[in-house]
Amino acid sequence: MSYPNIRPFQYQYLKAPRDFQIIEHRPMCLEIGAGKGKHACLFAAANPDRQLIAIERTRDKFQAMQKLHQSLAVQNILPIHADAIPWVVHALYPQQIEQLLILYPNPEPHNPTQRWLNMPFFEYLLSRVKSGATITLASNIEDYIHEAEQQLKQVWHLPYQKETIAADSARTHFEVKYLQRGELCQQLIITKPEGYQTRFDQVLPCCGQDQ
Ligand SMILES: C[S@@+](CC[C@H](N)C(=O)[O-])C[C@H]1O[C@@H](n2cnc3c(N)ncnc32)[C@H](O)[C@@H]1O
Repeated sequence: MSYPNIRPFQYQYLKAPRDFQIIEHRPMCLEIGAGKGKHACLFAAANPDRQLIAIERTRDKFQAMQKLHQSLAVQNILPIHADAIPWVVHALYPQQIEQLLILYPNPEPHNPTQRWLNMPFFEYLLSRVKSGATITLASNIEDYIHEAEQQLKQVWHLPYQKETIAADSARTHFEVKYLQRGELCQQLIITKPEGYQTRFDQVLPCCGQDQ
């Protein structure tokens, strides 16, 4: 098997996020860009035997998630206020993530290189995902989904299924807003196959800087 056809991600130079804390080394699910935490709380309630890390970079959204999390007293969510990229590098072990969710990511219209599947970081992220696990990528932008499909075929060589989100789905605040406007929302359910290799499969977290 060949590695993805993209320049290697330079994880060595990333400093740990402010107030970074080491987490347990055990299987967990991860939601990146969890916003105000609606999906995280629904997911945690529906999967009491799983632990979900819900990471959000924007302070006011993170605080809303924290408030919701506390009001519902859900035990199995770990809300993290950080940029997911350095946090993943410093916190996660290879194959630790049982399920990965990226729901309605910022479309980055002026920075296509910052879209998740266009970034070298995505190879590092894949190395943290368990073989056989799924990655859900949802968007209301048809071009975003189309571009992600092309990347999955040409760069990542990963199998996926494309689904239309039901009009009455309400997993996230953005999903509710887009569906109310009558927009087409779609998601790709990507699988990491057994034996899939990345250049980061042996890299352990916490490269020893700034901790
Ligand atoms: C369009 S919003 C969607 C929020 C939520 N998933 C929803 O559907 O309601 C995208 C979110 O991703 C967050 N985000 C973008 N890049 C991030 C990163 N590198 N690390 C953590 N969060 C990020 C943004 O702060 C924003 O809240």
